[in-house]
Amino acid sequence: MKNVGFIGWRGMVGSVLMSRMSEERDFDVINPVFFSTSQLGQAAPTFGGKSTGALQDAFDIEALKALDIIITCQGGDYTSEVYPKLRESGWQGYWIDAASTLRMKDDAIIILDPVNHNVIRQGLDNGIKTFVGGNCTVSLMLMSLGGLFANDLVEWASVATYQAASGGGARHMRELLTQMGMLHDHVAKSLQDPASAILDIERSVTDFTRSGTLPTDNFGVPLAGSLIPWIDKQLDNGQSREEWKGQAETNKILRTSSVIPVDGLCVRVGALRCHSQAFTLKLKKDLPLSEIEQLLASHNEWVKVVPNDRDITMRELTPAAVTGTLTTPVGRLRKLNMGPEYLSAFTVGDQLLWGAAEPLRRMLRLLID
Ligand code: HSE
Repeated sequence: MKNVGFIGWRGMVGSVLMSRMSEERDFDVINPVFFSTSQLGQAAPTFGGKSTGALQDAFDIEALKALDIIITCQGGDYTSEVYPKLRESGWQGYWIDAASTLRMKDDAIIILDPVNHNVIRQGLDNGIKTFVGGNCTVSLMLMSLGGLFANDLVEWASVATYQAASGGGARHMRELLTQMGMLHDHVAKSLQDPASAILDIERSVTDFTRSGTLPTDNFGVPLAGSLIPWIDKQLDNGQSREEWKGQAETNKILRTSSVIPVDGLCVRVGALRCHSQAFTLKLKKDLPLSEIEQLLASHNEWVKVVPNDRDITMRELTPAAVTGTLTTPVGRLRKLNMGPEYLSAFTVGDQLLWGAAEPLRRMLRLLID
């Protein structure tokens, strides 16, 4: 059995990964070794019924060199510090990473096997040893719209995202919920009074939101009752880094021969862990909607086409409905007024599952099975 080291298994993405690996009995087929950046020597966790002794030092290159495969959810700083040293030491093992640090490197492949299984396989045949999970919005888009990309039908894609707090991290989720609670507490009494005026309540909430009282250490500004039309760093061309990733990663994942333009606006909203995205797609040809739905639905076993019907959409195409599941639904499919080649689509997906943890454990399976 392969020796597989885990770093960052205790964090949010790491916890989801451990839980999925336990559900799928992945621990049955590996020898897990757990590392820590701060608690070496303490007892390692038991997943899948395997106890593994003590936690090892995540910065100990000699200990890491003993592994066949490393999976890290520890974050970009860890990758930047440890990965070069490990490779320079001559280590030939497989590095599977959730962080973006190595994603665009020529000798790394972005993993999303239901979409680019062939690219991953060819990479393995060519001796690639570094595999990196994609940006969550990109991975979730491709899980939902894969049928159109796989059939080379997309001329370009324009997107507006509705990204959940979890994309920022665990502390961001806490901050959002704290803000929500504080806003409610501030007007709870008036809300209970049916005679109170809603515009007075709104003004009180708005004044409170602007008062500087809400915690904003993580988001920088209030998110509850609001939104933030900027995610990640500012680039010189006016894009946010999150928006830049859309085209760069999509084309790398699909290994397109000519670039498919993907661009739009990335927006943080008050959802907890599901990213939603509204698309305008310019197709290369005018296909009947039924055929489009068929291509989308048959692309992979997790995508689900939601009929463009009000009640079904409200029930099935929301973060509340999708959170915690591996389903990546796509709906609101219709031809737009701009012409028969212009299609609208709305997708929803759990940012921590297909958006982060799931591609990592599936890559591990590809290396083991
Ligand atoms: N960058 C994403 C976000 C998360 O902030 O929502 C991970 O890809």
